[in-house]
Amino acid sequence: MTSIPISKPFFTGGEGAAVAAAVESGWVSQGPRVREFEAEFARRVGAADAVATTSCTTALQLALYVTGVRPGDEVIVPSLSFIATANAVWQCGATPVFADIDPRTYNLDPAAAERAITPRTRAIMPVHQVGLPAEMDAFLELGRRHGVAIVEDAACAIGASYKGRLIGSLGPLACFSLHPRKVITTGEGGMIAVQDPEVAAQLRFLRQHAMDVSDLARHSASDVVIERYPERGWNYRMTDMQAALGLCQLEALDEILARRTRLAARYTAALEGMPALHAPYDPPHSERTWQSYSARLDAQSPIGRTELMRRLLADGIATRRGVMAIHQEDAYAELGPFELPHTDAAAADVLMLPLYPGLSDDEQDLVIERLITHTSAMAVAA
Ligand SMILES: Cc1ncc(COP(=O)(O)O)c(C=O)c1O
Repeated sequence: MTSIPISKPFFTGGEGAAVAAAVESGWVSQGPRVREFEAEFARRVGAADAVATTSCTTALQLALYVTGVRPGDEVIVPSLSFIATANAVWQCGATPVFADIDPRTYNLDPAAAERAITPRTRAIMPVHQVGLPAEMDAFLELGRRHGVAIVEDAACAIGASYKGRLIGSLGPLACFSLHPRKVITTGEGGMIAVQDPEVAAQLRFLRQHAMDVSDLARHSASDVVIERYPERGWNYRMTDMQAALGLCQLEALDEILARRTRLAARYTAALEGMPALHAPYDPPHSERTWQSYSARLDAQSPIGRTELMRRLLADGIATRRGVMAIHQEDAYAELGPFELPHTDAAAADVLMLPLYPGLSDDEQDLVIERLITHTSAMAVAA
């Protein structure tokens, strides 16, 4: 019986021993391995520093907080994103303001974001959706011109680059996810790429209850240390077991990205022969991570998206709808009415195909063959 999941993490074999070594060291909460993982992550994304957290959502909330986002402020976000993008704004007591996407890239449209700026706008949060870099030159210029901060939701974008520059090296704060559905994983986890050492220190302080001494410093002190809490903070500490896994994943990152890129190219080539499905637009100046492969269903397709997904599932092939539209959820309905036509269209007609480094050519060929069968008019009529 065929069983092809939508996604699967990629491990090379040494992970179990690396995690076990963390356990055996006795240091299982945030400690030396988290520090090492942060340094290696920063190096890999071209950032001055990186600060680990428990998830991308907590990373975003913390990044917005150090940017000065507070109750009463507005943060401009795309609605076409996972709901955590907006929730992080709400968790700061601020209001997410949804702006429309570019219909080709499905990323936040800089011109739509600019139109949404008000005197209460504190930040704009471009999302590098499914690992495709947002138009960062335009956003950074917009931020400078209007005096608003840019905080990147780079959940899916580790290893992506924009005009030859790595995501994580471009803006002041970029937040990555280490959830298993992402490019690399620590089980759960997040990372903030940061350029300013003072901001990095503030992030480390706030993620640890705003305690004025770090665990590492206290454990290595030669005298008694009585810590102080000059303000309020959070507990967003990553564990050293997670960091041990993360270090292994960084070693595999190049291979993961290469395998994803190769599989995506195979889908794109196959979709050229399928009138009912369209490959995602691939801007020439960006290198994406292919965290997901989003195919768009043609308006003339003889089969609807849900029915196509249902038939594939019956074949043992898991798919997902495309990226959600946050403004369509009850959770944010009170902020409406909304006019986001490109977001509505993208949320309606995109589906994600199985794509992960361990997907074999035979399995992918089966997905392609089933797509051809189910989208052919004769099969639908039958
Ligand atoms: C664009 C985007 N932002 C934020 C998140 C939240 O990441 P995490 O699950 O690490 O909190 C996700 C996860 O799906 C995402 O896709």
